[in-house]
Amino acid sequence: MKRESPPVAEIVLQIDGKAVKATEGMTVLQAASSATISIPTLCHHEKLEPYGACRLCMVEVEARGRKSYVVSCLYPVARDLIVRTRSDKVDKIRRVILEELLAHAPHSPELMRLAQEYGADKDRFEKESSFCILCGLCVRYCAEIKGKNAVGFVDHGARRKIRFVPEIASNECWDCQECFALCPTSFAQAAYFLTEALAFPGRRKAWTP
Ligand code: SF4
Ligand code: FES
Repeated sequence: MKRESPPVAEIVLQIDGKAVKATEGMTVLQAASSATISIPTLCHHEKLEPYGACRLCMVEVEARGRKSYVVSCLYPVARDLIVRTRSDKVDKIRRVILEELLAHAPHSPELMRLAQEYGADKDRFEKESSFCILCGLCVRYCAEIKGKNAVGFVDHGARRKIRFVPEIASNECWDCQECFALCPTSFAQAAYFLTEALAFPGRRKAWTP
């Protein structure tokens, strides 16, 4: 006999003063988005596993009178949870995050737009233009959606960076390039073309009809 799966529990929480219906297992970000409440994100993609790297989606939550600040793309919904997507403190946290990210990718239009929205205009972080903010979108998209692992992280700490794997990229990337549009700084595209120029410069000629 076919077993019925148990019904998914419905949860009502409050986001920015609005009662929002969600189901158990959803994140606060998903619940907000289902109610067309916008929360800024840089490392989130609806088709990918949540990653929690950029912290820009930080919101204020209140449960049983206690306030805390959580990463909404990872934080699960709960009954009667009160969520505030904007407050002085939330905006301040986002401002500092954006100032730090801009020190790495000062010309990213997406970062500049967000910086303007949150008034992130202080030069408090040492400039280190790596152009990659390590959001992992390119790496995770290639692994989780394409199943190719043509781009990955190398090194740790301050030296962490993305790198295309020439042996895989030379076969897979030219016809794909889907990660380029996901990258908030355009570095994925630059890194790929640099890899192509250095490691397999003949590939483009071979492909061009
Ligand atoms: S190259 Fe772009 S998409 Fe990839 S981790 Fe860096 S910023 Fe994110
Ligand atoms: S979108 Fe939540 S941490 Fe980046």
